[in-house]
Amino acid sequence: MNSYLIIGLLLLSNHVLAEPFTSADAQAGKVLVDKHCINCHASSYGGDGSTIYTREFHKVNTAKGLVAQVRNCNTMLGLKWFEDEELNAAKYLNQTYYKFSE
Ligand code: HEC
Repeated sequence: MNSYLIIGLLLLSNHVLAEPFTSADAQAGKVLVDKHCINCHASSYGGDGSTIYTREFHKVNTAKGLVAQVRNCNTMLGLKWFEDEELNAAKYLNQTYYKFSE
């Protein structure tokens, strides 16, 4: 194997392992989450609804799991967000509440 190939493989694996929403836009994600997601969480969990993310036995435990959960909600609610919008929302929730590093 030549060294370029090895470096290429390293870059590729690094990309796959990195936080899945590294290049997403958290600010745009906040706008989406505020508009579409908070009311229902707040009516079930009280306050601003954020305790759903921070409760002791919260469901989401990895960055990948967070993206999957956002995707499920998007599909279930029929919001028709594009993938980049899902990633924006996931990034916002991660930065604000979950704080997963990968
Ligand atoms: C119709 C009500 C409703 C709406 C709207 C809703 N959710 Fe939820 N969401 C829930 C409920 C109920 C749970 C808890 C499910 C459980 O405990 O199994 C939940 C759980 C979650 C969790 C996991 C919390 C944890 O335990 O870590 C995330 C993340 C989440 N929702 C994101 C979203 C996003 C993003 C949107 C907007 C696209 C959204 N939700 C819209 C009802 C809703």
